[in-house]
Amino acid sequence: MISTASPHPCNVQTKDCLVGRYLKYITSFSCHINRLNFVYDCDEQTETGHEIRYLKEGKMSDKQLALVTGAAQGIGYACAEALAEDGMHLILADINAGSVSAAADRLGNGTVGMVCDMGDVDQINSMFDTIEKEHGPIGVLVNNAGVAMPGDFLTYDLDVFQRVLDINLRGVFVATQRASRIMIDAGIEGAIVNMSSINALVAIPSIPAYCASKGGVMQLTKVAALALAPHNIRVNAVGPGSIDTAMLAGVNADPAAMDRIMSRTPLKRVGSAREIGDVVAFLAGKKSSYITGETIYVDGGRIGMNYTC
Ligand SMILES: NC(=O)c1ccc[n+]([C@@H]2O[C@H](COP(=O)([O-])OP(=O)(O)OC[C@H]3O[C@@H](n4cnc5c(N)ncnc54)[C@H](O)[C@@H]3O)[C@@H](O)[C@H]2O)c1
Repeated sequence: MISTASPHPCNVQTKDCLVGRYLKYITSFSCHINRLNFVYDCDEQTETGHEIRYLKEGKMSDKQLALVTGAAQGIGYACAEALAEDGMHLILADINAGSVSAAADRLGNGTVGMVCDMGDVDQINSMFDTIEKEHGPIGVLVNNAGVAMPGDFLTYDLDVFQRVLDINLRGVFVATQRASRIMIDAGIEGAIVNMSSINALVAIPSIPAYCASKGGVMQLTKVAALALAPHNIRVNAVGPGSIDTAMLAGVNADPAAMDRIMSRTPLKRVGSAREIGDVVAFLAGKKSSYITGETIYVDGGRIGMNYTC
């Protein structure tokens, strides 16, 4: 559970930038996502008033609504950018209230920022309740939120192990269940894209829970694809290699570690977040309409490399 987010300063100049008015926070007592009434330095209307007007104007009805988790920065934000360029309206969810608010502001066009810990089932359910009630059915879900939490294998803390699995794997399952039920009820032939990793296939000893969770995501992607195919909902995954985000900060600062990665990367560079976002947008869109249950590895060629290379 996370503490109450501080109110986001609403930009009154940007009338169509609604994130300030839409920012949700989760109370530390009830796990319910509550609405903030941005009456302090916005105009006189409450968030609800803005939203009703927004929906009445039909701005959301003519475009698909996409939810990206862990979207305040890095790969999640790049996915949101790519989906927005494909004409979708975005809801960004993240555990970090300040950054998700800023990210939604940055993306603009009425992007909604929501605070949600994807490791907490109550918070995930509250978020989907709010989305259903206030924003309408989503057609695309990107399960991107993930943490690595390294530690020594022999003494790896079990609570940490559980927390990684709760965020990286159970969170993906719960969000997929909720999103697909919404899509089915609304008659939407939607798409779900999960963020796996090359660590679904290759292992690093210092991140046991991470590797297990990403292997789980790969398999869960296949299971969900089979379960949801009768409803014409496609489920795929992307498995990034080494991508230049905060998650790679430790490696970036360690030339020896970077040398090791480059020795196993045929394209001889790390990838950008946007190179992942573009593949996610492909899997979320019509151009991949006959692909389901797949994981696409976007890794500069690493997975295909034999030890003799
Ligand atoms: N960067 C890489 O090299 C790499 C490689 C393979 C896979 N991935 C995967 O890509 C995804 C995004 O990673 P990134 O590199 O952008 O990392 P990042 O740390 O830059 O961003 C992760 C985002 O997720 C959010 N987040 C963390 N815990 C959360 C939670 N419990 N609930 C909701 N949001 C939460 C963070 O606040 C942050 O905004 C992860 O699933 C990661 O495993 C990254």
